[in-house]
Amino acid sequence: MKVHSNCQKGCRVTLSMQRREFLRRAGLTGAAAVAVAAGLPRPAAAQDADLAPFLHGVASGDPLHDRVILWTRVTPPTGHDERPIPVRWVVATDVEFGNVVAAGTVDATAQRDWTVRVDPTGLEPFTYYFYAFQALGQASLVGRTKTAAAPGQAVDHVRLGVVSCANYQEGFFNAYARLADRDDLDAIICTGDYLYEYEDGGYGPGSAIGRGHEPPVEMTELVHYRGRHGHYKLDPDLRRLHQLFPWVTTWDDHESANNSWRDGAANHDDSEGDWAERKAWCQQAYDEWMPIRPTGDRAKIYRHLPWGDLVDVVVMDTRLEGRNRQVTYPGTDTENLGGLIVSPDASDPNRHIVSPTQMEFVTSTLSASPARWKLVAQQVIVSQWNAGAIPLLPEEVRSLDFPMLVRDGGNAANADAWDGYQADQLQFMRHIGDNAIDNVVILTGDVHSSWAFDVTTEPSNPTVYNPVTGDGSVAVEIVCPAVASESLGDTFNGITMTPVGADAFEAAMRANNPQLKYLDSRRQGFVILDITPEHCQADWFYVTVEAPNDAEEYGASWEARHAANRLTAAAAASEPKAPAPQRPAPGAVLPSGDPEPAPGPLPATGGGAVVLGAAAVVGAVVLRRRGGQGTTAAVEAPLRPGPRPGEQNR
Ligand SMILES: [Fe+2]
Repeated sequence: MKVHSNCQKGCRVTLSMQRREFLRRAGLTGAAAVAVAAGLPRPAAAQDADLAPFLHGVASGDPLHDRVILWTRVTPPTGHDERPIPVRWVVATDVEFGNVVAAGTVDATAQRDWTVRVDPTGLEPFTYYFYAFQALGQASLVGRTKTAAAPGQAVDHVRLGVVSCANYQEGFFNAYARLADRDDLDAIICTGDYLYEYEDGGYGPGSAIGRGHEPPVEMTELVHYRGRHGHYKLDPDLRRLHQLFPWVTTWDDHESANNSWRDGAANHDDSEGDWAERKAWCQQAYDEWMPIRPTGDRAKIYRHLPWGDLVDVVVMDTRLEGRNRQVTYPGTDTENLGGLIVSPDASDPNRHIVSPTQMEFVTSTLSASPARWKLVAQQVIVSQWNAGAIPLLPEEVRSLDFPMLVRDGGNAANADAWDGYQADQLQFMRHIGDNAIDNVVILTGDVHSSWAFDVTTEPSNPTVYNPVTGDGSVAVEIVCPAVASESLGDTFNGITMTPVGADAFEAAMRANNPQLKYLDSRRQGFVILDITPEHCQADWFYVTVEAPNDAEEYGASWEARHAANRLTAAAAASEPKAPAPQRPAPGAVLPSGDPEPAPGPLPATGGGAVVLGAAAVVGAVVLRRRGGQGTTAAVEAPLRPGPRPGEQNR
């Protein structure tokens, strides 16, 4: 969804050395170095040649109790042919790599756009690890990650950062920087729009603020999708947040094209080629460039990640996997003509936002979950969003370019969200309510604004839902703001709504949605989700995006108490956890030399050889246990066509 209409379519590095290294690597000297040292504006995104060949940093993701995906990308030197490049990886329990517990070698190949993904096994649950890569005689940044808790393991506290909608062209990633300042998070959850498909200046000012998209064209081909992923990962704030925490990600529409669905997208037409091919290319690039655990099918990213007895995370794909087309404007083949859609199609039981197979996976996983809290990380608003009687709304609201349909009592709704797929919406809510599944927390992005809902099948029916007591609510929904994309009520660049329009919009939302407990339509930022056996609390924090800065503003906090299944206001932001024991500096790198696993037994392992999915293993990864035999661990996914000439040089 886009919300305005101007778019066409053995490391013993001392701290001081690390600091100097960071400044040098960031290309900062003189006044710029002083500014960074003082915590002032950070360097803009740019290719930092000193990081070569690991220009895009390191990342980790999808932690399980005994393994975690580790990622990097080797940029081949100019003139390099398609010969694979051996990449050594190493995992240690300390930031100095004095206690190496796993290491191995994998090939970076042109088939995977020179990205590397390994999945070392045998790690300890709920434990911090440090990792790095070596290739072509150079070392990568040192990354930190953390495994999840083991099934049934008692866990008393999990804290997550929740993000979405990071349009590079619209602002700086200060939200990522503020999350990176924290040191008590177990993971970052991204509910989609990690990047955007538009050409330079196609959505947001782009080059006008020094943040034009690369490549400068709309992503329609594999080389574009790969290039855009690479460009985003040059942003220093995004790179730093990947360096510090494991991420759990899903795509929304802009990883492919605006308002995409299974067989097309609003921002796709026949002149741009075959949609099925374009979709496969975006999914291939996502698989290559994101620290995501392969399922054996690049098109299938819905999955389940447990965090001990406290949290189960169910990740959904409401976008590309099974979604039928959004309802269309009467008598036309388009979702939006700047007007309303009055369509019974929105409640057609044969129209789905996910396939019946995915719906069964999600509902059965929730039913079977032994965890106290069940998080559902997905893209678009699940709750009913009644925008009010459209003729009474400000012109700016009426002209929003997402498909608007009319439902209950003449209210307008977003047909791109679950409101446009009311049979699935009701089925999902009823499954939770009818089976009395406690403590379901839905995590949502997409709308570039902050919302908190009680989840109920009939929010305006007092016999079903009482907005004062919360009776009738079966779950809660937390919507995180955009990292950088223009907010729904944003005045940045003055494009979408005036402040008066934004105020009227928010007032209409509150008046028409008794289940809506919190709304901020204007600001960018992120959510901290604090989870204990007693509560799951969302804290909204806001940033500005016009320039790099260190400002952060606290917004509000809402919590679900255990078994309440509704939201109540929390008096203050949740208390931080104890910080991680060690933190790699922004420029920390492995030392020269070759860290090896130390002698002695490894911690308890999760078992032997693991090959994920129907993977074609390009390079065997050997996990060396201390004093033990090697174990083959993971790695590659099915291969698609290789890169086009020249692309490996970015
Ligand atoms: Fe977005």
